[in-house]
Amino acid sequence: MGKEDRDAWVVKCPKCGRIRESCRHVSADDVRRIVRLLKAGVEVYEKDEDLPQEGHVHEPPARPLARAVRPRVRLEDLVLPEATRDALEDALAEVRHQRLMYQRWGLRKVVRKAKGVALLFAGPPGTGKTMAAEAIARELGRPLHVVDYAQLENMWVGETEKNIDAVFERAAREEAVLFFDEADSVFHRRGSGMAPWTNRDVNVLLNRLENHPGVTILATNLGRILDRALDRRVDVAVEFGLPDTGMRREVYRRLVPRGAPVAKDVDFEWLARRYALSGGSILNVVRGALRSAARRGGRRRVTMGDFVRAAEREARKAGLLAADHLAAEPRRERIRGYA
Ligand SMILES: Nc1ncnc2c1ncn2[C@@H]1O[C@H](COP(=O)(O)OP(=O)(O)OP(=O)(O)O)[C@@H](O)[C@H]1O
Ligand SMILES: [Mg+2]
Repeated sequence: MGKEDRDAWVVKCPKCGRIRESCRHVSADDVRRIVRLLKAGVEVYEKDEDLPQEGHVHEPPARPLARAVRPRVRLEDLVLPEATRDALEDALAEVRHQRLMYQRWGLRKVVRKAKGVALLFAGPPGTGKTMAAEAIARELGRPLHVVDYAQLENMWVGETEKNIDAVFERAAREEAVLFFDEADSVFHRRGSGMAPWTNRDVNVLLNRLENHPGVTILATNLGRILDRALDRRVDVAVEFGLPDTGMRREVYRRLVPRGAPVAKDVDFEWLARRYALSGGSILNVVRGALRSAARRGGRRRVTMGDFVRAAEREARKAGLLAADHLAAEPRRERIRGYA
């Protein structure tokens, strides 16, 4: 609840008659809880008979707490810098050779850790972190459980904790890879003040993470500002970077579908050099270009102009115009006709 909300509330204590935010009979915490419950529509009756005749109010959640995904993406589908690919292979080795390393070779005597493996994927938006989580699950031949925070979060005392438990239990039972996408939204630094989750919930989450026997993947855009306590629990951290020119060209090559009627003069090399975009942004460019062509009707060729306009839009959005295009020879004559 926001601060403004809190300050707007005043209670009158029946014991001391004081009218203020709290007193020694009614604590500020009490007030907050009462307001929260009232706002959520809680009604209180002394006897059953007083209850209005209605259906049951405590409906079970309509959506599951974590979405089970059958992973389709393969590691080869990702275009990655060598260092990132290597770190992912490392992450896979940590999972596959756990028994060998920790039991047979005795690493667990040195590394104080529970049985599971926690991976952290950190990097800018659209660099393939979500895709990589899916690929890792597929490599391991396990389903991927994508945690839905909106469903976990529950204002009722103890409910969030129960939900967290349920998610970890189900993942263990189904031997799934448990995926916390955009983990920064929950594993924030405790005490940071702007927490959507209470410190207690975060502590519960960290504790369950530590004791989970399976594989957990946390993805974040802000690796550095995550909770310190999380560092100790992460076994392998993988950094995702923005693609270089060659990788961008490769992403275009993979994302433009074979069936799309792409005009002969479309120059992906030029687009890759001119716009320093993430893989996710390139996906938007491809979609945007195809959409423009589809709208035109007629012969519907996807032209260089379609790609350039879509790329300009994305570049503006990302504010990331390539620095390297300045050095390279821009083929302006060629592009003028399109853009
Ligand atoms: N490294 C990559 N190789 C191939 N395609 C990529 C890559 N990165 C992104 N893409 C494309 O962009 C889409 C979005 O990427 P993804 O969702 O994996 O990014 P992300 O790092 O999880 O981003 P966010 O931080 O915004 O969640 C992918 O489905 C894919 O089409
Ligand atoms: Mg993602």
